[in-house]
Amino acid sequence: MAVLSGPALNNAAPVTMPRKIIIDTDPGQDDAVAMLLALASPDELEVIAVVTVAGNVDLAKTTTNAAKVLELAGRADIPLYAGSDRPLGQRELVTAEHVHGPTGLDGPDLPEPQIAVQDMHGVDFLVESLGASDPGSITLCTLGPLTNVAAALNKAPDIASRIKELVIMGGAYFEVGNITPAAEFNVFVDPQAADIVLRSGIPITLLSLDVTHRVLTTPERLAHIRALGNSCGSAVAAMLSFSEKFDIEKYGSAGGPLHDPCVIAYVLQPDLFEGRAVNVSVELDGKYTYGMTVVDYWGVTDRPHNAHFVRSVDDEGFYDLLTERLRRLP
Ligand code: RIB
Ligand code: CA
Repeated sequence: MAVLSGPALNNAAPVTMPRKIIIDTDPGQDDAVAMLLALASPDELEVIAVVTVAGNVDLAKTTTNAAKVLELAGRADIPLYAGSDRPLGQRELVTAEHVHGPTGLDGPDLPEPQIAVQDMHGVDFLVESLGASDPGSITLCTLGPLTNVAAALNKAPDIASRIKELVIMGGAYFEVGNITPAAEFNVFVDPQAADIVLRSGIPITLLSLDVTHRVLTTPERLAHIRALGNSCGSAVAAMLSFSEKFDIEKYGSAGGPLHDPCVIAYVLQPDLFEGRAVNVSVELDGKYTYGMTVVDYWGVTDRPHNAHFVRSVDDEGFYDLLTERLRRLP
């Protein structure tokens, strides 16, 4: 009997374990779609937990919305933690009901959630879970203001060395700001937090408005999602049909930019995106530029490279991925 050895024994494709991620979020319709994209990809992503933060709407609403999305996807098993209810320091919370509606998740009619929010504060969960994790085993995907991550770093600076990668939706440079002429919303809500995170030394990939404004929810793309015929497809179509109105009117574009799902799509298929290592600094003093992300894209300073700044994307490939994954959900 031939004894198999060498390549014959190793011709099976290597089994790669799903990448462990924690989603930090302020749902928000686009946050909700990002969560669904992650939850539709269990072979590649293990969503360890969802942590909410105040941003698009207040913390109570972002937490309720996150719970609604987990239940919509049939994933009430994923632990949900409520994090920071306001930015660091004395800064007042700035919200975005003008984009997302008074609930923060206007559009679909989703049932009140039954999920119990964990007792532990979301910041303490980040400190505890990252502190106990194998170094480099957890990827943090942030979809809102960076308050929770900065607060966790302030509490336990050592967690910085334990994070595999921090993939952030935030900032803007060539695309300029969306909440002020200079600043993008997630960074503007808590610029101090963004500054702490960008100085932390954590491997950061930044998906700013410069790339998210290249993935537009055109009527054709929304029609494909609506035609999926499942609950998640219908809910996503209703969500984006609501939230895109503001941007279409503001920019006169063919659809609204789809911000937060770019984070999850990048983790799933980084080859859809292109960027470069740069320095990204946050303006904390400017009268007109407060909260602006200043990107040294052309390398004219000696500031350290602290982020992989993503500027372009294969938008057709992005929507093919998103639509194909949404099809897998309930
Ligand atoms: O500027 C876009 C970002 O602000 C997105 O994360 C959106 O959800 C809002 O939080
Ligand atoms: Ca968000």
